[in-house]
Amino acid sequence: MEQTAKVVAVTGASSGIGEATARRLAADGHRVFLGARRTDRLERLVEEIAGAGGTAAFRRLDVTDAADTRAFINAAASAYGRVDAVVNNAGLMPLSPLEALRTEEWDRMIDVNVRGVLHGIAAALPLMRAQGGGHFVNIASVGAYEVSPTAAVYCATKFAVRAISEGLRQESAGDIRVTLVSPGVTESELADSISDPEAREAMKTYRAVALPASAIAEAIAYALSQPPQVDVNEIVVRPAASAQ
Ligand SMILES: NC(=O)c1ccc[n+]([C@@H]2O[C@H](COP(=O)([O-])OP(=O)(O)OC[C@H]3O[C@@H](n4cnc5c(N)ncnc54)[C@H](OP(=O)(O)O)[C@@H]3O)[C@@H](O)[C@H]2O)c1
Repeated sequence: MEQTAKVVAVTGASSGIGEATARRLAADGHRVFLGARRTDRLERLVEEIAGAGGTAAFRRLDVTDAADTRAFINAAASAYGRVDAVVNNAGLMPLSPLEALRTEEWDRMIDVNVRGVLHGIAAALPLMRAQGGGHFVNIASVGAYEVSPTAAVYCATKFAVRAISEGLRQESAGDIRVTLVSPGVTESELADSISDPEAREAMKTYRAVALPASAIAEAIAYALSQPPQVDVNEIVVRPAASAQ
């Protein structure tokens, strides 16, 4: 296990998996730089981490905005001198059948789940290249491997995250490591973004068995803790009781 403390920027750190990841990585001794739109949550989280002896800072971030994402990564580099890893975690999941034609929700998913990840890569890749290395941990989903009704667009965004991660890995082998972490059902606020009544109802059953967000944070911490010559490429984490 590599023990070196790293500087890790985490997007979508105001709740769920991102929040648990911030706590876990800080407890492991990493310096975390946290982004999301709900800064009141980030402020409380940073205080909590600092109170526990960790090092954390935050900046408001909207990953749909390329310039804002660049400013976020640059702020992390200014705060801590470098950026060793970026956890591209921000995402949303407003599920609905295609025939409901919720085109604005399709656009939002594409903007946050796909463009957001690309913006994170565009912001950090030049910096990582200049400093001689770096690590992207991109959060996909079991929906990156299989499609189900009401989840066509969400799964499409996660298939895209998987494709982008694999392309980045192949193109930057040597100095940039890329890990795709794909959670199954995990406790978080993700299902709150579902506005379609039927999809929302169906999710209550589907999401009845869920992992704690700390289980995904653990997988991320594992990938980041590997020695420089080891690149953990894909991790899928499901509840043991889950068939899908
Ligand atoms: N929970 C699951 O069952 C599950 C399963 C598979 C994959 N995932 C993936 O895990 C990731 C984290 O989701 P979660 O489950 O932890 O859900 P969550 O609790 O809803 O967290 C989503 C995070 O994304 C942030 N976010 C949303 N839009 C954003 C934007 N435009 N700019 C910056 N941040 C934004 C939210 O913060 P603000 O609203 O404060 O901006 C929040 O911190 C997502 O990519 C999701 O697709 C989750």
